[in-house]
Amino acid sequence: MKKVLIALSLCLALGATAAFAGGDAAEFYAKRCGNCHGEDGSKTSGPSGGVMLKGQSAEDIKAKLMGYKDGSYGGKRKKTMMRMVEKIDDKMLNDLATHIGGF
Ligand code: HEC
Repeated sequence: MKKVLIALSLCLALGATAAFAGGDAAEFYAKRCGNCHGEDGSKTSGPSGGVMLKGQSAEDIKAKLMGYKDGSYGGKRKKTMMRMVEKIDDKMLNDLATHIGGF
């Protein structure tokens, strides 16, 4: 019985951590990206540079974010995004891509 309880609380603890990690990226997006790209990534006018994040896969978003970081990707307004990703670590970029891929 004790073992079952330990296993159960381990599962709960792991589940809680995973949920928190996801919440982290969601919060980060809402604070730092949503203004330009829209809460759900569907904004294409004004500061978004005409691009739509919604509907793109997590893999595509991740490749683009990494591309902004190393300067290998971007359009007319790539400087805006290069400044944006400069200080974001790869793990958060990865989490953001996963979050955006779910829009
Ligand atoms: C100041 C407005 C602004 C903010 C804030 C901003 N972006 Fe952008 N984003 C842009 C613009 C402008 C472009 C188009 C840049 C270009 O010409 O390559 C863009 C492009 C992108 C693209 C590439 C889309 C494509 O299909 O080419 C991704 C992915 C992206 N942004 C993600 C993010 C994430 C994640 C954040 C938050 C960390 C963020 N952006 C914050 C303005 C912004």
